[in-house]
Amino acid sequence: MNTSLLIETARAPVADNKGLLAMDESSDTCNQRFATAGITQTVEMRRAYRELLLTAPGLGEHISGVILVDETLQQAKADGTAFIDVAHDAGLLVGIKVDTGAKALAARPGEKVTEGLDGLRERLQAYFAMGARFAKSRGVIAIDGARLPTAACIAVNAPALARYAALCQETGLVPIVEPEVLMDGAHTQQSCQQVTEAVLRSVFDQLSMQGVVLEAMLLKPNMVIAGLSCATQNTAAEVADATVQCLLRVVPAAVPGIAFLSGGQSGEQASGRLNAMHVRHGKASQPSALPWPLSFSFARALQHPALNMWAGNDANRAAAQQALLHRARCNSAALKGEYSAAMESA
Ligand code: 13P
Repeated sequence: MNTSLLIETARAPVADNKGLLAMDESSDTCNQRFATAGITQTVEMRRAYRELLLTAPGLGEHISGVILVDETLQQAKADGTAFIDVAHDAGLLVGIKVDTGAKALAARPGEKVTEGLDGLRERLQAYFAMGARFAKSRGVIAIDGARLPTAACIAVNAPALARYAALCQETGLVPIVEPEVLMDGAHTQQSCQQVTEAVLRSVFDQLSMQGVVLEAMLLKPNMVIAGLSCATQNTAAEVADATVQCLLRVVPAAVPGIAFLSGGQSGEQASGRLNAMHVRHGKASQPSALPWPLSFSFARALQHPALNMWAGNDANRAAAQQALLHRARCNSAALKGEYSAAMESA
């Protein structure tokens, strides 16, 4: 393992007020989103949509890199240029989602364990040879009152994330470690904070125990938010304060960056909350209370307006690309504490 190169690579996705575009939905998830938007669910439509995203003009101004899924990594533009070359030509780092999905956890109804460790070393070596420089694996944790999460759910997912991360580093890929506490449910923000803290504590225990170099990884957590059906929804300032407090308690300063998932927030909510973190605690407040850069690695909060605008019709392609670029600009502004709702109407 070339540790100094890995450390350098890990800093790049969160540098220069940029973040990542996650476009690594599995075929099933992508098809579900297509179905909701009234788009035909075929390999070719998924390819055309990913081409639209990757060729948005000037994407690299606000986006440092993309996370792809295996299908997309193997695909090419209509003119035959491999997507990985399209991304590199646009100045984008290439990452690859390597988990094979969250599957039902035996004996723990309602909970999941992430699979994809079998044969992972060989897959990572192949992705590295193709030009990928970072990877992603996601574990999911559900909250349901006092019932979930169970200790078992955390106890199986945290070591799996650490095993994945150690294999990535061995292969020369920077691991993005994504333990996602889901927004589904009626739980309070306080409950989300407690669970997120417990999950992150367990994940970092495992990362250390399994020899993962903390300086050469990125964390992709959820923000600390009340469940979608909780009667009390918090302000952006409250989300920012609880999220930063939670992360400061458990994420070692050695970690070179934190890039949030959006988890089902709207684009505006995600930008507003990210902005509040920077205004209240980060670069825009003096001095910054944060030991790591906070950035984004959004899928839905970057893509949704573009997907709906495109709706499977190539006549809408340019407008859909503009919708994507707008969200990228808004999130980059949020990293400077310069996002405002006025940007949405500009
Ligand atoms: P969302 O931003 O839509 O939560 O997706 C992030 C992601 O990469 C999920 O694995």
